[in-house]
Amino acid sequence: MSFMVNDNVTWVGKIDWELRSFHGAEYSTYKGSTYNSYLVRDEKTVLIDTVWEPFAKEFVANLKKEIDLNEIDYIIANHGEVDHSGALPELMKEIPDTPIYCTPNAIKSLKGQYHQDWNFKTIKTGDTLNLGKKELIFIEARMLHWPDSMFCYLTGDNILFSNDAFGQHYASEFMFNDLVDQAELYQQAIKYYANILTPFSKLVENKIKEVINLNVPVDMICTSHGVIWREDPLQIVNKYMEWANDYQENQITIIYDTMWNSTRKMAEAITKGIKEVNKDVNIILHNAAKTDKNEILTDVFRSKAILVGSPTINSGYLNSIAGILESIRGLKFKNKKAAAFGSYGWSGEQVKMITDELNKAGFEIMNEGIRASWNPNEEAVEECYEFGRNIGNEIK
Ligand code: FEO
Repeated sequence: MSFMVNDNVTWVGKIDWELRSFHGAEYSTYKGSTYNSYLVRDEKTVLIDTVWEPFAKEFVANLKKEIDLNEIDYIIANHGEVDHSGALPELMKEIPDTPIYCTPNAIKSLKGQYHQDWNFKTIKTGDTLNLGKKELIFIEARMLHWPDSMFCYLTGDNILFSNDAFGQHYASEFMFNDLVDQAELYQQAIKYYANILTPFSKLVENKIKEVINLNVPVDMICTSHGVIWREDPLQIVNKYMEWANDYQENQITIIYDTMWNSTRKMAEAITKGIKEVNKDVNIILHNAAKTDKNEILTDVFRSKAILVGSPTINSGYLNSIAGILESIRGLKFKNKKAAAFGSYGWSGEQVKMITDELNKAGFEIMNEGIRASWNPNEEAVEECYEFGRNIGNEIK
């Protein structure tokens, strides 16, 4: 499959409807994904990125239907990660001398992965590649999201090829933002930002300002995953600016796990307490053992505050809570509050331990948390209501 993005640019990537996890099991992709590769034709012809390795043979075969491979003058590797570079070895068997333009760090990552000394040409921000009537301008995008990442901008067509930035793991045969379900697209875009780009928010903000300062029109943003931003392409740039700026909605996310429903009972009583004093706040409850991790993290991203609860087990907390706390730590959320809760039978250390982890993860700790022994009785439930009321008032 291929399709025309405009008169000069052809999409030659792969829609992967089957993909259900990405980065190992780090990222759930229930909507599949796409690996976008683009052929740009001018007096010179350029291929921008390839696809993931399992689709390499299919990619090269399809590309041959589109063009005589020997007519490809340049290859651009915007990023070395295998989902975009995975078909390079197969392609380079056919056209081994074709120059590959990329950042110095991309040479490291490509050599490290494929052990080939291809005809690399290094670029830096501001370098250009003349294609005839148009040119490509390169913009390094270090840590968005790898040290080797870069964007390139096609003059004349005013297209920003942004690689991972502004992408979504979202398979669709429509392939343009104006043709797909808008709510679904928004959810996949924010999930992508929350789970991949949150730690680099400061860099996102600075990079976007750098692109804006180029003072060039942007008619389209061609990402490497998901749909192409064609209608109002700057809407996703504006969203990224919002998301990069310590984003929060009026939301509290309560994450818990439970052994015999005592901690769940506490979570629900706390929810009732919050609602009594703060009717406007959106409260989301996730059992960490039952809910997809990336959906939980997206809700953390959207929240003003999170509450994390577990019963005590083996002088600690449940495995599902340990897992989500580690993911929360890694994403380096900013400007969010937190507190812990949980039931216990004998020792009850977990609430302090969870509080310590939330503190180390950079959350502002609202209080020392709340514990309930055994199955919470009426008095303990009332304490949870009061705990919830205090949280509800604090995050108004
Ligand atoms: Fe960082 Fe889509 O690879």
